[in-house]
This record gives sequence, C-alpha cells and structure tokens, in this order.
Amino acid sequence: MSSPSNASPSAFGPIRSICCIGAGYVGGPTMAVIADRCPGIKVTVVDLNASRIAAWNDPDLSRLPVYEPGLDAVVARCRGRNLSFSTEVSAAIAAADMVFLSVNTPTKLKGVGAGQASDLRWIEASAREVAACAQGHTIVVEKSTLPVRTAETVQAILAAAQRNPSDQSAAAPCTFSVLSNPEFLAEGTAVADLEHPDRVLIGGDDPAAIEALASVYGHWVPAERILRTNLWSSELSKLTANAFLAQRISSINAIGALCEATGADVHEVAHAIGTDSRIGPKFLKAGPGFGGSCFQKDILNLVYLCGHYGLQEVAAYWQAVVELNGWQQHRLARLVVQRLFGTVTGKRIAVFGFAFKADTNDTREAPAIRICQDLLEEGAQLAIYDPKVSSAQMTDDLGQPPQAQGEGVWRAAETPEEAVRQADAVVILTEWASFASLDWSMLVPQMRHPAWLFDTRSVADLAAARAAGLQVWRVGMG
Ligand code: NAD
Ligand code: UGA
Repeated sequence: MSSPSNASPSAFGPIRSICCIGAGYVGGPTMAVIADRCPGIKVTVVDLNASRIAAWNDPDLSRLPVYEPGLDAVVARCRGRNLSFSTEVSAAIAAADMVFLSVNTPTKLKGVGAGQASDLRWIEASAREVAACAQGHTIVVEKSTLPVRTAETVQAILAAAQRNPSDQSAAAPCTFSVLSNPEFLAEGTAVADLEHPDRVLIGGDDPAAIEALASVYGHWVPAERILRTNLWSSELSKLTANAFLAQRISSINAIGALCEATGADVHEVAHAIGTDSRIGPKFLKAGPGFGGSCFQKDILNLVYLCGHYGLQEVAAYWQAVVELNGWQQHRLARLVVQRLFGTVTGKRIAVFGFAFKADTNDTREAPAIRICQDLLEEGAQLAIYDPKVSSAQMTDDLGQPPQAQGEGVWRAAETPEEAVRQADAVVILTEWASFASLDWSMLVPQMRHPAWLFDTRSVADLAAARAAGLQVWRVGMG
C-alpha cells in the first residue's frame, strides 16, 4: 500500500509521532488515512469534545461520528495499532514531532467582521495549547482553512513560548516551525480524495519542515503532486479554490433559472459548455444551491479580506456568488408554493434528503434547511426522509421540534413510503443514489392528487414519475 521510496527523511529525521487537534470531519478522516499509509508513525487525534472522541473509539464502526464511505475500514485497520483518539490534549502535543491544527473556523457571529470574518478563537486556543505543552522542536501544521496571514498569529503565539523556555517543564528549549497545509477533501468522497489527492499543498518558509511534512505524504502521494509555496500563497489558495468551485455552482444555477424561463435545458447547456476543455465538465450541476460548512464561510472570509485591503470591487464580485446562492434557495421554495396553487398551508410535503450532499450525514448550511424553513413559514406540514440524518439533527437545524399535526410543522419519516402518505408533493433536496430508483408506481397512489415531484437534484426517473401520475418539475428544465 505505501510506497516508501517517495518518503525521504528530513533534516529533523523521520516524523515518528503526529498529534492532530480537532477530531472533526477533516481531522478524523485525514489522520486515519495518514495512519493507514504510514504504519511507522504514531497518530493521536485529540479533541475537547469527549462524546466525539468516545464515538471515534466506539467498537461499533457504524457509530463513528463522521459518516464517509470506506472510513470504517480504514479506522478498523489502524485504530489500536498506530491511530488513537483521545481527550488528553496536552500529553499528545508533548509527545508529537508534528502537530496539526484541524479545528473549526466558522464565520464570526459578533464583533468586528461579524457575518464575514472567520472566528479564529479555536485556532488561537489550540496554538496556545501547543505553545504551552510542546517539547523540543515541533512542526505546527495549519490544516484548518484560515484567512491569509493567519500563520503570523500562530507564529507570534508560538514565538512567545519559544522566547521563554523557562516556562517549559523540559530542560531543552522548545522551538517551532509553522506550515500551511490546507485540506481539499470533499465530504462524501473524503477517503478517496485523501488516498488519491489531485495535489497536496504545503506552504512555509522553513525548507526542512516542508520536507518533513512532504515525506509524510510521500508515503503514498506521487512526488509531482506535492506542491510547495510560501505561507501566504498556500493559505490564499485554499480560499481561492473554494471560491472558484462555488462560483461555478452559482454560475450554472443562474443559467438554470434562465433555462427554465426560455425553454433551454441546463443539463444540455452544462454538457455543451463542459466539453470545452478550457471549461471542463465538473461542478456544473444545477441544484438547490451549494451547502456545506465551507463554501459560504470561505467566500465571506475572502470578501472580508478584500474589504480589509480596500478592494471593494473584488469583495462585491465574490459577495455576489453567495447572494445568488441564497436567492436560488428562496426561489425554489417560492416555486413549490406557486405550483401548489399559491398556498402550502396545511398541505403535506415529503422532503427527500436533508444532508447538504449525498453520502454524508453533515447538514451544515444544507440547502434543505433554508428551503424547509421557507416552506414551514408558509404553513406546510413536512415529512422529511434522509437515510443518514437524525431527527435530533433536523430539530437543531430547523430550530423547532417535530410535531405531527398543525401548520408550519415537520416530522422525520423512516422511509420514503412513510413520507409520501397523503402528501401533495415530493421535493428532492439531496442526491442520494437511492432516489434514482424509487418505485413511483408504489409511492404515487399514497399521495393526494394532483401531486407533484420537484426534483432540485435531477436524480429522479422523471419518465417513471410521470407514468405513475405525477406532475414533474426539474431544476433548470424549461
Ligand atoms: P469540525 O467542527 O467537524 O471539527 C473541529 C473539531 O475541533 C471539533 O470537534 C472541536 O471540538 C475541536 N476543537 C476546537 N477547538 C479545540 C481545541 N482547542 N482543542 C481540541 N479540540 C478542539 O470541523 P471540520 O469540518 O473538521 O473543519 C475543520 C477545519 O477544516 C475548518 O477550518 C474547515 O474550514 C476546514 N475544512 C473542512 C472541510 C470539510 O469537508 N468539512 C474540508 C476542508 C477544510
Ligand atoms: C468542498 C470542496 O469541494 C472541497 O475541495 C473542500 O475541501 C471543501 O469544500 C471544504 O473546504 O470544506 P464539500 O463542501 O465537502 O467540499 O462538497 P462539494 O462536493 O464541494 O459540494 C458542496 C456543495 O455544492 C454541495 O451542497 C453540493 O451538492 C453542491 N454542488 C456541487 C452543486 O450544487 N453542484 C455541483 O456541480 C457540485
């Protein structure tokens, strides 16, 4: 599996022990793959959240806190061998040659930059923890997505510890090198993305530290895919990559709306433009708008940075990508209401899919949240079916508990069959593969007629749905 020929020792000697602070969607899978591919490196993932760590340690692998195809097998291979999950943050830092910071960096909710800038309190706290506990020379790797020049802050916190070795329990002075190594995995394909990355990006100004980290990835990533840049290029490349990907989605959704108005079909348009090798076919799927924890937050962060540097026109350009996304979500909710004779008050609507994309249990910024909230505001009764999202998570996201009867209420359904009973419409909001093979001839007789299918993900078999008696609407189809 691993190809040690790519892995060259660094000036520090080979890395033997890694600590990762943050056992979330990035820290958990990333460290599991590093442990899998580098059996000689001891990898400890730490988190303050004891229940999350307990879930990572659960003997029942179906209960890992992150659902990703293939992750259970990777964890099964290395947990207890060279991969462990712990709440003992200080001890893991002290034992590590290399510490990854993989903590959350959400949008600030209050204070300067609220609604745009990233909240760096968790990065600062973890950098302080490293400063307090590290021993000897430690390479500190920014894995979280951060505003450009955050490494300066991390360096400043660590430098204070470096200047004051008497604070350290060990006799040897402690020193640090800071690297930026943003993560490009997408949820739902995290394991495959980590095992076969398009590239690994390492930014830094200490060549020996860069080579030490490159040698970890060198166990399985071809050398030509390991890119080296300065710190600021690396930090900014991550924000830029997400901004470009999100911009393609807003672009195709904008064209999709025009297709609906003109009789063009966005899938044909996407195919026609995607065959131009300069444009390429990926990230041209029209849908309910992008969700996920990062696109919106990272673009807003970019907008904030542009404003900070006085680049108002650049800020406005990127801001429009986020605005178009919000508009698309409200537009789809309005459209459902319009088609259902202008009112959904007291009407049952089956919502298929709540996760922000298929193959994940993550609902952060899921388009389903905003669309369901709009429909609830209009008085609908929603029955939501998602194969991986719990009713408790939906309660958190929708801001109200489930309720069986009334207006503006929702409940979770265990199956699509249960969701469609007496419903006036099915709205597909996540592209789960199982929605492609739904048996409409069995579902539709359970519904109230005239009944609609709104397919915002273009996954359903429209011919079968029509044949079963549904009126159908698909995103971007005129
Ligand atoms: P997450 O919220 O799932 O996980 C972060 C974890 O860090 C939490 O479990 C939290 O308890 C822990 N934590 C915070 N402060 C801590 C501290 N001081 N000590 C110990 N643990 C601490 O977040 P995530 O989705 O894994 O994202 C992490 C970073 O990676 C973010 O900056 C995000 O932008 C970036 N990123 C995420 C993805 C993704 O697909 N989710 C992809 C690429 C990059
Ligand atoms: C995205 C990026 O793809 C990753 O490279 C990046 O590391 C990550 O953000 C991050 O920084 O967090 P992710 O959000 O997990 O990954 O998933 P994507 O596959 O990018 O999908 C994001 C959203 O866009 C989803 O809601 C998806 O349904 C939507 N999307 C995607 C479309 O509507 N159309 C498309 O063509 C592609």
